[in-house]
Amino acid sequence: MMNYDLGKGKYANWVVSDVSFSADTLGKTESIMYLGNGYMGLRSVAEEPYLEETRNLFVAGTFNKFDRNEVTELPNIADITRVNITIDGERFSLEFGSVKNYVKQLNLKTAELIRSFEWKSPKGKELRFNFRRFVSLDNLHLIGMKMEVESLTHPVSIGFDSGIDSQMTNSGVQHFHEGDKRIFDKKFIQLVQTTTESKVDVVLNTAHELSVNGIKVDVEPIMGMDRRKVWLQYSLDLQPGDTLAMEKLTTIHTSRDKEYAAQEYQLELLREKSMENLRTASLKGYENVYKEHVAAWDAKVWNKYNFTVNSEDPFDALALRFAIYHLTVMTPAHDERMGIGAKALSGEGYKGHSFWDTEVFIIPFFIYSNPEVAKSLLKYRYHGLVGARKKAAENGYEGTMYPWEAAWPTDGEVTPIWGAVDIVTGKQTKIWSGFIEQHITADIAFAVWQYYKITNDQEFMNLYGYEIIFDTASFWASRLEWNEQKQEYQINNVVGPDEYKEHVDNNAFTNHMAHFNISLAMKYYEELKGKNPEILEGLESKLKLTDSYKSWEEKLEKIYLPQPRKEDMVIPQDDTYLNKRVIDLEKYKNQSKVGTLFNDYNLEQVNEIQVSKQADIMILFLILENRFSPEVKQANFDYYEPKTLHDSSLSLSTHAILANDLGREELAYSLFRRATEIDLGPAMNSSDHGVHAASLGGIWQSVVLGFGGVRMVDGKLRINPRLPKHWKDLSFTINWQGSKLQLHMDHSTLTITTEKEVSLIIEVFGQKYEVTGETKINYKKQNVEV
Ligand code: BGC
Repeated sequence: MMNYDLGKGKYANWVVSDVSFSADTLGKTESIMYLGNGYMGLRSVAEEPYLEETRNLFVAGTFNKFDRNEVTELPNIADITRVNITIDGERFSLEFGSVKNYVKQLNLKTAELIRSFEWKSPKGKELRFNFRRFVSLDNLHLIGMKMEVESLTHPVSIGFDSGIDSQMTNSGVQHFHEGDKRIFDKKFIQLVQTTTESKVDVVLNTAHELSVNGIKVDVEPIMGMDRRKVWLQYSLDLQPGDTLAMEKLTTIHTSRDKEYAAQEYQLELLREKSMENLRTASLKGYENVYKEHVAAWDAKVWNKYNFTVNSEDPFDALALRFAIYHLTVMTPAHDERMGIGAKALSGEGYKGHSFWDTEVFIIPFFIYSNPEVAKSLLKYRYHGLVGARKKAAENGYEGTMYPWEAAWPTDGEVTPIWGAVDIVTGKQTKIWSGFIEQHITADIAFAVWQYYKITNDQEFMNLYGYEIIFDTASFWASRLEWNEQKQEYQINNVVGPDEYKEHVDNNAFTNHMAHFNISLAMKYYEELKGKNPEILEGLESKLKLTDSYKSWEEKLEKIYLPQPRKEDMVIPQDDTYLNKRVIDLEKYKNQSKVGTLFNDYNLEQVNEIQVSKQADIMILFLILENRFSPEVKQANFDYYEPKTLHDSSLSLSTHAILANDLGREELAYSLFRRATEIDLGPAMNSSDHGVHAASLGGIWQSVVLGFGGVRMVDGKLRINPRLPKHWKDLSFTINWQGSKLQLHMDHSTLTITTEKEVSLIIEVFGQKYEVTGETKINYKKQNVEV
């Protein structure tokens, strides 16, 4: 059972807890409390094993393809968390004996996992356990674990074995060759393995330190090795009142590590380097490396983003911290060859692949809060041009057609072809996204534009951005289909954002975004021609820009852009949506878990009903907001929201923001709360396969873009705060075109503090203000006091 208010004092509203152990619902806390640092992600499994656990460790970018009928995925790396504990020969497990004061918690501030409880063994021996764990943000290769066991009632003999276990799989798929195992000096354990297809070498080292009542003890371990396993077995006796502490430090390095992209790689050097890293960390000791980790969280995260949310319900502040914690641990900020997985680094779901989730839901957080990281994520897409051009060519198109699911940049499309069971045929349902969910190509161009406008990073544009925008536009130009009868260009046979409608013609989101993409390319082409023709010349031979421009120019104005119907201002989501069957959706709207529609219909049938999985046109209203009037937004919200089941976690935050824009503040707040509960809430199974990365970005968006009202509109900064009535105030730091702005807002005043000497123009509720230093804007009265 989840609890959100166990954090006290300086940790108030920083601690997410589970206060009752259940072996059947382990997945929830394993996922939402997972630890990571962008380099790796470690699911928060218990040390002692349980049947329903999923022990996962992923290192970003180490993709491997098990066989030709499967798609590449992040392999589950050898486990170092499992510790088999015995008390007087009896196996310790919370499924035997009895447990008191159980709590498992993630402290978001310190990024530490803690698990503590008292346990009475079946034979009546009572012990207190306390486990701690972190994945260092200071040393990206380091994992620290600490176990303390106090004997409360009897003299006991405690035994445990702990080491490196690579009998791990991804749901049965083994991605590694057996590898080399070695124990040095009866202390330092090393395992070296190579992935079967991508040939990535992974080196793990681990070592233990033992102490009793704070005094180091040297216990001679028994060494063990088996297939894919190497470990040390320790045993020692405790008197009542004695506490055993075991500290375990582990390092992980791989041949994918960034430094080997530029320098020659040798396995022997990697082994030495990784062992050296472990020895250095061991010399410092657990508590010192832990302190360095906590300091890194303060410096790189909490003191950088400076968020405060003052709400009647402290859960709101906790939810935002939870989102920022996860946005940090999911992001491979250290390596531009890597993207963010849809389930972050927290589970096998979606195989570590990157979707449009990054560009539309996650990147805005980084663009505003940490632009260097946003740049790295966009460079991942730049490197991905190789795979995306391959996909375009394979499909008979020009330019760059980004994969719906992406892994290693050169891989191209990696979406699996077969999915869940079809309840009518009993076969697997075909996944069409990899073939025809094409809007991602424009979404990426949009993200590049957004990054450029918010950061002013001209160098990025010159080196990478223009190329992405031009080449994606060329894809769309070749993708358009001429309709002779209507004398217009159409985009037929696609899946739009709403994945409950397949093979549709003229999905409004896709058509508008393609139009946006081409018009952006034309604008930049024209601009560069006048200002910086060398860039165009540089790209000419690669992209045949002169010819491309002609084709953009010829086609742009003839693209069919679905418009509001005369009678009710509803924009058709696609050519046929509004003619489909309407059914009573109440049962599904009130469902307690997503996807219940598929208990009654298969996807083919769902395709014929006016029901949507997620926000579709609503996202268009958010990202191309000034293409549509408030009345049109309102009419469509009222038409589509009742037909939207929010079966994708991407849906609620967008709806929350729009509801707020439309002045429906209570609804906005309740949609926001539902969005925060996707991972954090009481449902114990919704995050089993991993956290919902886009939805965590969506929580930040709901707060900053939604309630905070911060938007980039046509390259200008607009801030229209609309705080929920439950909130007293909100403050945070954003980056705007190279400088930092500290924002504070309550229900009547917006205070903006710029860096020294910086002056900029912002718009607040239709009025323009020049701000410099500390500027208070009373936004209801529309006047400025400097
Ligand atoms: C959603 C997509 C999303 C994907 C990964 C799907 O269920 O419909 O929009 O990109 O999940 O999060």
